[in-house]
Amino acid sequence: MLKALLISLSENRRMRSIAEHSAIGKRVSGRFVAGTSIADAISVAQNVNRVGATVSIDNLGENVTNADEARHSAQLYNNILDEIGARGLQANVSVKLTHLGLDVDANLARELASNLVAKAASMNPRNFVRIDMEGSPYTQRTLDFVHELHRQPGHAGVVGAVIQSYLHRSEQDIANLIADGIRVRLCKGAYKEPPDIAYQKKSEVDQNYVKLMKMLLKSGIYHGIATHDPRMIEETMSFSAREKISRDAFEFQMLYGVRRDLQMKLVREGWRMRVYVPFGEEWYPYLMRRLAERPANLLFIVKNMLRG
Ligand code: FDA
Repeated sequence: MLKALLISLSENRRMRSIAEHSAIGKRVSGRFVAGTSIADAISVAQNVNRVGATVSIDNLGENVTNADEARHSAQLYNNILDEIGARGLQANVSVKLTHLGLDVDANLARELASNLVAKAASMNPRNFVRIDMEGSPYTQRTLDFVHELHRQPGHAGVVGAVIQSYLHRSEQDIANLIADGIRVRLCKGAYKEPPDIAYQKKSEVDQNYVKLMKMLLKSGIYHGIATHDPRMIEETMSFSAREKISRDAFEFQMLYGVRRDLQMKLVREGWRMRVYVPFGEEWYPYLMRRLAERPANLLFIVKNMLRG
């Protein structure tokens, strides 16, 4: 119940405005968000690289409501890629299509996403754009975009998708992505979805996760296994060992600030680890989704608030 409440709070505009403008809010969000500027994200990325993990930088923001905001967001991503290139960081970018204006004008979002992928493709070494997956009203459109972007000349291998194991449709979606040679990040899914399209029980979501993970690892394409769940990680490790799949053939991915102990353990053991580093002014919905995943994190927030 608390989980559902937190997810609905994540969509509450008034709460969001209050939180994002408060000093306490900014301090508390620091546990899961790198800061508000590109410089903050780059500095965190450097620290993460130093301890042996790679990074995906996400500029927080979604559902922009006009073309200027979409263009502004695309420009910011261009600047991030420039910084990554200039500093030789082991980092790529993650972007949401609604942040590039999908709700405003699909053609504009297409053009901005395509330019961003072209920019990543032109870098030396080539960079990579991960298109994050949003709620189910966007699933089909997002996958169509990724297939289309990937087919454009010079873009093969430079753009990838995200699949959520809570959706019933995901097995077919993964088969289609593999058929086109597209890199996938597999996660469980962070939105509230109805039972006719999504598994509701954790045991079912997990079971599907393991099934999809196996499809991905067997595909010979470089994918991301994004989870903090020790059981999913164990299953991945033992499957890769059984199938003699090299540790370089895929990567684990986790969120900045979540299970840092486990992130470090995997790096020490020689597994590839990518940390998803979000930054930006619009951190509220992101933070609330993280709290919904683990309401125990609320304790951490309250402690921080009491600290004054
Ligand atoms: P699950 O939620 O079942 O938790 C298993 C265990 O992990 C918990 O018992 C706890 O130990 C630990 N844990 C999980 N969340 C925690 C938290 N917030 N704080 C502390 N411990 C925690 N979703 C989406 O819909 N679209 C997307 O594009 C992405 N992108 C993405 C990128 C990356 C790199 C990651 C890691 C995740 C995403 N997600 C996402 C979010 C994902 O769908 C999912 O909501 C979270 O990863 C939580 O699911 P877990 O697999 O971690 O397991």
